[in-house]
Amino acid sequence: MTRIRVLFVCLGNICRSPLAEAIFKHKVSLNGLHQYVEADSCGTSDYHIGDTPDDRTVANALKNGIHIEHVGRQLTVTDLREFDFILAMDSSNYRNILRLPGADVHKQKIFMMRSFDTSDDHLEVPDPYYGGERGFQEVFEILDRSTDGFIHHLKQHLSGRL
Ligand code: 4NP
Repeated sequence: MTRIRVLFVCLGNICRSPLAEAIFKHKVSLNGLHQYVEADSCGTSDYHIGDTPDDRTVANALKNGIHIEHVGRQLTVTDLREFDFILAMDSSNYRNILRLPGADVHKQKIFMMRSFDTSDDHLEVPDPYYGGERGFQEVFEILDRSTDGFIHHLKQHLSGRL
């Protein structure tokens, strides 16, 4: 069976999306799903290509028991074809994904990350880049909840294929 491919997308690919990828991979392992799923992350911008994740994100993730390893890269048209689920951190990311040439035909696999967060109606994962430590912890908690919701969704999706 081909693995389901999941791509997390933010602006810079140094704060939110590499954290989402790391939390997701951790939970995929805990749920015994690693043979069925793979994940990556990227940014809509070219600001941080080749960069390692933001030190504040890495430190906050470690405090919460998550190890992040990633090298920044920019979203490409090929990603839209190759990934099965593309999860945008905020509505600006979502719009930028849809601006790529030919993106329209892939619209059904592009989601807002927080559409899987059942705790409230907010759809944005706020950008923590210009804020303080509290913002990083808030983003961690949002992504932790959203990932639980997404894995639940993925299990239902997989149960039709196993
Ligand atoms: P991210 O955060 O999109 O969550 O990685 C940002 C990182 C860098 C910048 C903006 C947002 N920047 O402008 O460099």
